[in-house]
Amino acid sequence: MKNLLLMPVFFLGFSCITKEKLSDTEFDRKVDSLMQRMTLEEKIGQLNLPSAGQFTTGQAANSEIAKKIEQGMVGGLFNIKSVKAIKEMQQIAVEKSRLGIPLLFGMDVIHGYESVFPIPLGLSCSWDLELIEHTARIAAQEASADGINWTFSPMVDLCRDPRWGRVSEGNGEDPFLSAEIAKAMVRGYQGSDLAANNTILACVKHFALYGAAEAGRDYNTVDMSRYRMYNEYFVPYKAAVEAGAGSVMTSFNEVDGIPATANKWLLTEVLRNQWYFNGFIVSDYTSVSEMIDHGYGDLQSVSAKALAAGLDMDMVSEGLLTTLTKSLKEGKISEQQINAACKRILTAKFKLGLFDDPYRYCDENRAKSEIFTEQNRKFARIAAAQSFVLLKNNNVLPLQKKGTIALVGPLANAPTNMTGTWSVAARFSESVSVLQGLQKAVGDKAKIIYAKGSNLHEDPLVEERATMFGKSLNRDPRSPEIIRAEALRIAQSADVIVAAVGESAEMSGESASRVNIDIPQTQRDLLKALVNTGKPVVLVLFTGRPLTLTWENENVPAILNVWFGGSEAGDAIADVLFGDVNPSGKLTTTFPQHVGQLPMYYAQKNTGRPLASGLWFQKFRSNYLDVSNDPVYPFGYGLSYTTFSYSNLTLSSKEMRPQDSIRVTVEITNSGTREGAEVVQLYIRDLVGSITRPVKELKAFKKINLKPGETRTISFSITERELSFYRADLTYGAEPGKFQVFVGGNSRDVLQAEFELL
Ligand code: BGC
Repeated sequence: MKNLLLMPVFFLGFSCITKEKLSDTEFDRKVDSLMQRMTLEEKIGQLNLPSAGQFTTGQAANSEIAKKIEQGMVGGLFNIKSVKAIKEMQQIAVEKSRLGIPLLFGMDVIHGYESVFPIPLGLSCSWDLELIEHTARIAAQEASADGINWTFSPMVDLCRDPRWGRVSEGNGEDPFLSAEIAKAMVRGYQGSDLAANNTILACVKHFALYGAAEAGRDYNTVDMSRYRMYNEYFVPYKAAVEAGAGSVMTSFNEVDGIPATANKWLLTEVLRNQWYFNGFIVSDYTSVSEMIDHGYGDLQSVSAKALAAGLDMDMVSEGLLTTLTKSLKEGKISEQQINAACKRILTAKFKLGLFDDPYRYCDENRAKSEIFTEQNRKFARIAAAQSFVLLKNNNVLPLQKKGTIALVGPLANAPTNMTGTWSVAARFSESVSVLQGLQKAVGDKAKIIYAKGSNLHEDPLVEERATMFGKSLNRDPRSPEIIRAEALRIAQSADVIVAAVGESAEMSGESASRVNIDIPQTQRDLLKALVNTGKPVVLVLFTGRPLTLTWENENVPAILNVWFGGSEAGDAIADVLFGDVNPSGKLTTTFPQHVGQLPMYYAQKNTGRPLASGLWFQKFRSNYLDVSNDPVYPFGYGLSYTTFSYSNLTLSSKEMRPQDSIRVTVEITNSGTREGAEVVQLYIRDLVGSITRPVKELKAFKKINLKPGETRTISFSITERELSFYRADLTYGAEPGKFQVFVGGNSRDVLQAEFELL
């Protein structure tokens, strides 16, 4: 039963970030009284988070982990699925351990549970915060119906170097948009009542700066100015904390030469003292013991340093479990530090309602009726279509449901690859492939003919690495020429060719960095051959990262970027290809021309030697000899089956005092022939600052729907907040002077106005 008396306390605890309000809560008293009965070993046990692995029924009770749970040496478990398996473990904790303290059950519920939504990078391209919040709500609903009470999401690491495979898991390159999405996801997971049986604890990750790994190589070193941390990379983590996220996960990288997992400045000074974070901090998978390889000490020393820095829970390393007693005896840590960590974890368990009912999330009936439901899958289909970005369209799309359509490519008939990376709970084989989606959509109105056309990658070794975890694309052993010839044969009889090519699901995500971000050569050869047939070709692009699409943009008549759309991707792709849904996604990350331009992002600095506008190259200017500074597709870009025109950008005043605001209005007209949605984006440039400021920064956006011919006036308000930034001494505020305002449908094609802050 939910303890209603505790409800107001809960709200104070998680939604208001002030130290005073958190001190003397009901939770504190309950936790303190429990802790008085705990031994030192039991307290340290709460700091331990092992991975369960999956047990077959009956095995769990006799496992090593079960013994540890019984001895009070485990605070939570992850990587365990199903009410039955989870209940079995919870029973051991509650009925067999001395104090019966319930366990947390975590999982990487990243973009949906069994009903899978688009990968986060894709979802961010919807620019639809309500939709994103709802995907997190459904994910929480399904996961909690299956025994899970804690998700390792949202991942909000900014990334400007798509060689890094984990760009797929975040929200792109922009601090403001990513922060808005972070808040929406925390709201979706945690709801307004964390103790309800259909809400789960969020975990913001990876704190901090993980997305800035040097050279885009996963787990690599990060070195960044404080100025950049506070103005850019920290922004989404802070937003998630302010939205009440109950836990934070540390990152694998170092920050200022100290691994994040033991970085006191990061975990205590920034997170707790500056942002008033009052939840608990968990390490990433073995990131405690990995500090040995970082060169930061042996297991005992790194574990002591991590605890002293503010880490509360150790994922998998068992460094805290096995060394803290010794470190305490040797005076390397204090008992208060252990108590503080234990208290934070127990508080989360109280807030989740686990002490009222440890089986609150273990309801077999809910598991049967609330997971992978018709309704959730319908929403996944809607969300997928909203994530797609139309990159090019020379009057090929939408397709008509008639004639013969040749569907070609290694990702055309690949249900296991539709859900993308980090979809651990997905029912891979039940995901809708492109082939299934198109067939269902046309029925007997048109003929769909299919051929694979190429393997994923010319190198079988790379293909093997890129198709792990049950996501094989069944490599065809024949030569590329023979496989391609088969596709060209069927293409001959088609009216239009749809080429489903790009990356496989595991070609991005963790430990999936790439130095070459082209579409793999063997697939590009297929595309070239298809284009050479002279028939209209639609490139349906699967990818977990921005790719270099220079050749494709020049040569393929239509390109629809579908990322990895989730369990209903195939149906959603058909919806958009046939025009039942008008695409409206906009890129949240820049698509470069060449990997050598990376890192690349729109909010760059002007430098002292900017290239003159419209020029390709000037000697002694900031540019390259062999490629222009332009991206192929800029941040914010995406087409529609209709067109939008922007006019009459007006400011309510040319001057503003700090306490005032300026109203920005702009007229947007649907100048095409179909109803469609447009993401209206507002950017600001601070022309002179005490530190140099980016050429453009996104400050507001609105997604609107317009009928053909309709014109709407959209307004935004600019206040001091939109003009503020962290200065060199890390004070925060706006500085008087001139500002430019830009409004448009992407970060490049904008209307412009100017005002002055007095
Ligand atoms: C990843 C995390 C994830 C954790 C648990 C790590 O390898 O970096 O994002 O939450 O594993 O699965």
